[in-house]
Amino acid sequence: MMEPFALAETAAAQLRARSGYDSYDVAVVLGSGWREGAVALGDVSNVVATSTLSGFATPTVPGHDGQIISLRVGERRVALVAGRVHLYEGNSAAAVVHPIRTVIAAGATRVVLTNAAGGIDPSFTPGSVVVIRDHLNLTATSPLEGPVAEGRPSRFVDLTDLYSARLRAIVADEAHLAEGVYAGLRGPHYETPAEIRMLAAVGASLVGMSTVLEAIAARHLGAEVLGLSLVSNAAAGVSSAALNHREVLEAGQHAAASLGDLLSRVLPRL
Ligand code: HPA
Repeated sequence: MMEPFALAETAAAQLRARSGYDSYDVAVVLGSGWREGAVALGDVSNVVATSTLSGFATPTVPGHDGQIISLRVGERRVALVAGRVHLYEGNSAAAVVHPIRTVIAAGATRVVLTNAAGGIDPSFTPGSVVVIRDHLNLTATSPLEGPVAEGRPSRFVDLTDLYSARLRAIVADEAHLAEGVYAGLRGPHYETPAEIRMLAAVGASLVGMSTVLEAIAARHLGAEVLGLSLVSNAAAGVSSAALNHREVLEAGQHAAASLGDLLSRVLPRL
């Protein structure tokens, strides 16, 4: 099997050839619900199916088909990654972060990771967007596990400033959004109320099943990371409402216009 960084470089060369973009500035991974808003960013006709690129796992979740959309937002050359893949689909950590490694190999130096998350902090009401200030990686894995990759950055990467203060300040300048700590779990089941109380006790204010491994992989390669969570539901036990995946997708549909507006203001400045 090809070494993961070389595989990402192969895919990046294919992406450049098929999109006609010789480099990118910013990559945005579109989580559940974010795609609807992102399509309003501009001309989204430049689409490369990830099934035509080396190393991409096939998404199995409704609402996540695999595409990389290349477009300009202001002066920025942006790669929108639609069709994130998750550990809970049976993918390895390396497969989960392959899209991120690919867009970084294609030139992106700023990465925006979006997701839908459960709100643990009761003030994070469904429909609001929260900026990720820090995370708890509770997946029990890392994309940096494995043999030493010669010629790559050290795997002992400092995550002190994982979520870039510079990028968070740009968001704060554009929108008044709360910040939170995202707990990333493997899923695919939602949490029990006892687990949510545990997560609250250790400092988490958001919970989800993505983002943390991608953030680590991006930082490892020197990219600046911004994380944005759309709160799709109150986490288990925080309200009396039942949890389901449909409500996660619907939250995105309802918030589409405001998510698109936020991205259109923030991306040109990143
Ligand atoms: N828990 C975990 N992941 C999620 C949730 C949740 O409540 N909502 C959206 N993704």
